[in-house]
Amino acid sequence: MAEQELAPDTAAARSSIDWARVQAISGLCFAGFLALHLAATVSAIFGEAAFTFVQHAGRRIYQYPLLELGLIVAFVAHLVAAWQLRQRARSALRGNLRRRLHRYAAIYLLLFVAGHALATRGVSLAGNVDSGFDAVAFSIAWIPTWFLPYYFFLAMAGLYHAWWGSLTALSRLGWKAPGTLRARKVFWLLPVAGLLLMPLALARFAGLLGDIGDPMSSAYARYYLMLFGLD
Ligand code: HEM
Repeated sequence: MAEQELAPDTAAARSSIDWARVQAISGLCFAGFLALHLAATVSAIFGEAAFTFVQHAGRRIYQYPLLELGLIVAFVAHLVAAWQLRQRARSALRGNLRRRLHRYAAIYLLLFVAGHALATRGVSLAGNVDSGFDAVAFSIAWIPTWFLPYYFFLAMAGLYHAWWGSLTALSRLGWKAPGTLRARKVFWLLPVAGLLLMPLALARFAGLLGDIGDPMSSAYARYYLMLFGLD
């Protein structure tokens, strides 16, 4: 699947910075974090202890101060590159299904990721409370009709955007294999696995697969409700 080249008269094409390369590298960095993050989310299927184990293993990497800062830099660089390459982004909406899905996922993520990071990591730092299993369970118990679809689409948008984006980025950086991988039905295995596994993980957070105690009484829940004057 060939990337559409930039028209030579666009601002990005005239810039001395290779924005496509910036987008590819920053995207791969963020996708690395997301792989750890979504692996933890899916591990919730096996219970709170499994989720906590995988989440803490991931945190040792992405919450290492320099790497956490790097994650923010990668996120901002990715957005700036996307803005510089907006001409190409517009053409993606007229591209094939995979490309269009990648673009729709980007729009969903753009709307929600910053708020999500603030509601989890931000609240955790502000109130010195853990944003672990309890935090997700609390949000679902609090407003299930909003948080269940919100998390489902957040996870699917993140998974798909990172998957298609990583294959495209790797091929842009000179790795040949993704082209063949993307040409086959095998491409859909990961998104379909996400479609099947994510509802199970969310069912666990919602307490539908076993007892999760009282999610409204955790330290995170009490601090969150107090912060927004809802207690
Ligand atoms: C069902 C899906 C998801 C759930 C349940 C979830 C839950 C969480 C939780 C509990 C945290 C706190 C992490 C920690 O303290 O270790 C967190 C942080 C975060 N999440 Fe998610 N998340 C989901 C999907 C996503 C997606 C798709 C993205 C981005 C594309 C994302 C981006 C982030 C970011 C940037 C942070 C802050 C990381 C940090 O600096 O420590 N999340 N999320």
